[in-house]
Amino acid sequence: MEPKHRQRYLLKKISEYIKVNNIEGDCFIESGVKYGNASIVMANALNRKGYLFDTWKNFPHFSDFDALDDKRKKKLQKRVKKGKDTYQECVDNLIEGGVKDICILKKGDICKKIPNFVKKNKDHLSISLIHSDSDLYEPTKVTLEELWPYLVDGGMILVHDYEKKQWPGIKKSVDEFLSDKKNILTSVIEENISESFLIMKDNNNQYEDDFKKLVKEVNDRFPYK
Ligand SMILES: C[S@@+](CC[C@H](N)C(=O)[O-])C[C@H]1O[C@@H](n2cnc3c(N)ncnc32)[C@H](O)[C@@H]1O
Repeated sequence: MEPKHRQRYLLKKISEYIKVNNIEGDCFIESGVKYGNASIVMANALNRKGYLFDTWKNFPHFSDFDALDDKRKKKLQKRVKKGKDTYQECVDNLIEGGVKDICILKKGDICKKIPNFVKKNKDHLSISLIHSDSDLYEPTKVTLEELWPYLVDGGMILVHDYEKKQWPGIKKSVDEFLSDKKNILTSVIEENISESFLIMKDNNNQYEDDFKKLVKEVNDRFPYK
C-alpha cells in the first residue's frame, strides 16, 4: 500500500473513532490542503463541518529550520516564488467527494489566517480533529499552538511528515509543542509511515486504552518490511 493510502486509512480510522465514540467538537480542521483529498476522507467519515487552510498555490515563506543546507534553501525559495494553483481542482474534488457544502475554504498564509480565525471564533470554537500537513515549521507550530486550546477532550491531531528528512521543521515544531503539554497521548504511527504523528487530548486520563487500541489497529493493518 502506498504511503498516501496509509495516510488516508489512518485519517478514516481516527475520524470513525471520533464519530462512533461521540467525541465532541462540531468541526475538523486541515492545515495544508492542496487538492483536498485528505479533507474529503475526514468530512465523509466525520460528517462535521471542515475549515480548510492553504494558499492553494505557493509557500508564503519558510524558515531556517526547514532548509538545512543551501541546496534545500534554493529549492524552497523556488516554491515561495512559484507554485501550482490547486484551488479550483480542490473545489472540484470537494464537490465530487460530496463534501463541498460542509467545507469552508480559508485561503492565505496559515500563520496569519489561523490566528485570525481563532480570534473571530474563540467563543464557540470546538474542534474534534486536526490534520496538520503544511510541510514547514512555522505553519505547523502556529496550527498546533493556536488550535490546541480548542481541541475537545478525546479529540485528535494527526501531523503528517513527522521525522521525514525532507521536512525537518515538522519534528522540531511538534517536539517544541509537546515540551510543555500535559494530559496528552502521543504515538508515532509505524516505522514506514513514521512521518505520521498522532496526538490525543486526554484531560481526565480516560483514553489511554482506546488510544493504544487505535494505534495497534492501524499498525497491524500495515505490517511493513
Ligand atoms: C503536502 S501539501 C498538503 C496535502 C494534503 N493535506 C493531502 O493530504 O493531500 C502541503 C500544503 O501546505 C500549504 N502550505 C505550506 N505552508 C503554508 C502557509 N504558510 N500558508 C498556507 N498554506 C501553506 C501548501 O500550499 C501545500 O498545498
